[in-house]
Amino acid sequence: MPMSPQAPAKPHETYCVVTYGCQMNDNDSEIMSGIMEGRGLRRVESEADADVVVVNTCVVREGAEERALGRISNLAAFKKKRPDMVVTVAGCMAQKEGERLMEKLPQADLVVGTRDLFRLGSLLDQVTTTKERILAIGDVDKPVFLGDEGVRRRHNVKALATIMYGCNNFCSFCIVPKTRGREVSRPVRDIVDEVKRLADQGFKEVMLLGQNVNSYRTDGADFADLLAAVNEVAGLERIRFITSHPKDCSDRLIDAMASLSKVCENIHLPVQAGSNRVLRRMKRFYTKEQYLELLEKVRERIPNVTITTDIIVGFPDETDEDFHDTYDLVEKARWDSAFIFGYSPREGTKAATWLDSIPEELKKHRIQRCLGRQEQISGEINASCIGQQFEVLVESVSKRRESEVMGRTRGDKCVIFKGDSSLLGTLVRVEVTESYPHTLIGHQLPTA
Ligand code: SAH
Ligand code: SF4
Ligand code: F3S
Repeated sequence: MPMSPQAPAKPHETYCVVTYGCQMNDNDSEIMSGIMEGRGLRRVESEADADVVVVNTCVVREGAEERALGRISNLAAFKKKRPDMVVTVAGCMAQKEGERLMEKLPQADLVVGTRDLFRLGSLLDQVTTTKERILAIGDVDKPVFLGDEGVRRRHNVKALATIMYGCNNFCSFCIVPKTRGREVSRPVRDIVDEVKRLADQGFKEVMLLGQNVNSYRTDGADFADLLAAVNEVAGLERIRFITSHPKDCSDRLIDAMASLSKVCENIHLPVQAGSNRVLRRMKRFYTKEQYLELLEKVRERIPNVTITTDIIVGFPDETDEDFHDTYDLVEKARWDSAFIFGYSPREGTKAATWLDSIPEELKKHRIQRCLGRQEQISGEINASCIGQQFEVLVESVSKRRESEVMGRTRGDKCVIFKGDSSLLGTLVRVEVTESYPHTLIGHQLPTA
């Protein structure tokens, strides 16, 4: 369909990327930003000022989908005023709903899937020269191995590095395997080279990204081998990773975390539910008891480890007894923090073929109960940090007060203390003096 015929030929100068969803989407947005900057476009923060707008979408829950759709709908008004604006829809919604989005969103000039975003540059050229709308949704399983030269990073101290694409797990509630395709791991060499370049540019921390990093495998190397290789990168101080599926959390990984100096003592282990019946129906392949044993092992072998999780309540047919098992797990697991979601049926998943039987009100009530207890536990754990000293990597100047900075412990706890921008990117020792469920307050100690 041709765009407005009177569109002026003024070259595009600015771009804006709006990102929803997980860290993998954050990293994809950095890659797309890099591609656009490589073509001479300058970043602006508001869609209103941008010649090219990219909305990088998420469909993991209905709420995420609605937020992204709302944002794209609002772009119609901007585009009316400036018909030469290029509206791009990228990410998981683009991959899943491509055709439908082309129909539903006439303001979208380009719809680009999760494995086609690397072609964004040539696709934008095509849109501009032909004035045709483009749907670029390739096979979700095709391998994509990108260079990272032009990536435009959002932060200066810590960087994201995608180590694998896709997921092979098909948990019954989850749409991600449909939007990201089957698992493909990036070669160790490519990842280590990327991290070396990051360290050379002054980054102190890298977060390795995959939907299930424990199943990383290439050229005979597993995730523990990859961690060992990244640990050798000079200049880098900290390594984190996300996400670990409890069913694949091997002794080799736990040993690697315990022994590799740069790998931080922090692990996100999404449990999803505490009822064995529900876990079976979710296709998670572990029981509550096995999960608790895993926590015990991790805590025994990795001193001071912090553990976080994701929980879904209100899964189809979740009884009071099932929910009680989840609540009991909150009690027993004593996570440092937990994300608690209400189940959201996703068309195309196994669970969406079952009746979404738990009323919204009851889902909300169950979220509140778990969240309330978890907040108390997070508060208790953080209160036990008072009087302790931590190594903190300073990430940013506090948003609220310029005389304060924000950094993180190796356990990923957020610490606020007095300081200025000269501390950015440095490791300092901080003694904790006050605590809240999500933040610690402290003061910097003189370096020994
Ligand atoms: N790969 C990660 C999770 C990716 S999605 C893992 O396996 O843990 C992030 C979180 O979103 C999941 O851990 C889950 O708690 C939540 N989630 C996924 N699908 C959902 C759905 N249909 N309804 C509610 N929450 C969901
Ligand atoms: Fe989704 Fe399960 Fe894969 Fe995580 S492991 S992305 S929850 S299918
Ligand atoms: Fe959302 Fe896609 Fe990530 S659905 S959570 S952006 S993998």
